[in-house]
Amino acid sequence: MSKKQLLGALLGVIAIGAIGVGAVYHQFTIESAFHRFVSVVTGASEKPLLSSESRYIRQIVAADNSTGRTIMWQSDASEESSIVEYRLAGSDEIVTVAATNTMFTDDGSTTYIHEATLAELIPHTNYEYRVGYGDSRRSNWYPLTTAGPDDSYDVLIYPDSQSGDYTVWENIVKDSASRHPNAAMYMSMGDLVDNGEQASQWRTWLSSVEPLSARIPLAPMMGNHEMYTIDWKMREPRAYLAYFDVPNNGSSTFDRRYYSFDYGDVHYIVLDTQLYEANHDDNSDIHHPDLYDVQIEWLRQDLATNNKKWTVVLMHRDPFQYAFANRDGRDAGFSEEGVIFMPIFDEYNVDLVLSAHLHTYRDRGHVRNFDRDATGPRYIITGIAGDARYPGLWREHPLDVYVAPQPETNNYMSLTVEPNRLTVRSYLPDGTELETVSIDKE
Ligand SMILES: [Fe+2]
Repeated sequence: MSKKQLLGALLGVIAIGAIGVGAVYHQFTIESAFHRFVSVVTGASEKPLLSSESRYIRQIVAADNSTGRTIMWQSDASEESSIVEYRLAGSDEIVTVAATNTMFTDDGSTTYIHEATLAELIPHTNYEYRVGYGDSRRSNWYPLTTAGPDDSYDVLIYPDSQSGDYTVWENIVKDSASRHPNAAMYMSMGDLVDNGEQASQWRTWLSSVEPLSARIPLAPMMGNHEMYTIDWKMREPRAYLAYFDVPNNGSSTFDRRYYSFDYGDVHYIVLDTQLYEANHDDNSDIHHPDLYDVQIEWLRQDLATNNKKWTVVLMHRDPFQYAFANRDGRDAGFSEEGVIFMPIFDEYNVDLVLSAHLHTYRDRGHVRNFDRDATGPRYIITGIAGDARYPGLWREHPLDVYVAPQPETNNYMSLTVEPNRLTVRSYLPDGTELETVSIDKE
């Protein structure tokens, strides 16, 4: 914190007492007041931010999205006095939170990443926020809505977007966002980019989600491509971890590579299925043979303390294994990730498991103990939203109940959460519905 921010924070403490901020903001401790303070809009001259000062303004899911939300953005130059301001929609009482200013250099390209996590928000409430620097430079205001405990809401779900040419992906985001203007959140199923080190692909990806990113939170997930170097070796997912500050998981080695969060009455678990990349012997300096052992311990603990009605798991690698259509070498069955994780999903009665990686949309119905069973989780592999298509690569699996028309083009999905029903819908890029799946629970 700079001297100027410290002074601002102290003035803020005084302001809290002086203006009697009421029920909304009265719970600050002195400690938190050093990071957050309240002011009233004065009409002082405000300069809009240049694009170079306000790139990729985005909301990222917090652990509890009824009371928290992470705001991130980037600038081309270092900005020490970065802040996030927020207010109840329609109010003129502004809460200010100090934001970070972290230089990130990768692939010869430098950006400055700013972020702040808003906490102690009121559930089921409409806020507005903006970002800025010092006393005068500010972005536009953007909406920020907290989840309520029983909220019904829609989520947009995007399968692998890795591309050579991201035009297809950009259009899918733009068109799906306009068809679902009330979506509360969006998710990426991993392999956001084709090469996890290439800075230009990250810039493209972060730009592509602008129809959504400032106004609703993203739940991202790592895929194997997030761990590739420019020369296609493995590395730690540096760029992915820098760009998406998802909730912590308590592991120093694997922090934020897998995580969980709540939105309404759903507990979402996002797994890291990249054991092959994390333990691949190709001159890379990463060797993490214990990724799944550590993660399983965390997963069991996470599921044991989950008190939400619904549980949804997101995992990049598919728990099922598909045989190749035109060559031998793989039998239909279950992948290493399926063999390891599916019994845990059974044990804790997970409702829905979404996966990716194979670039095909298939619904395998409810499965328990590796076989058809209406009491088991529903397993859907989410398809492809980029241009890396594998037409006709996979045979049908004995458990497939729906396969997208072949050869596949692209698709996206939505999840509608209601008190007694989850509804998963898949769509072609033009909005044509492919499949609708409902899961009911009293
Ligand atoms: Fe993948």
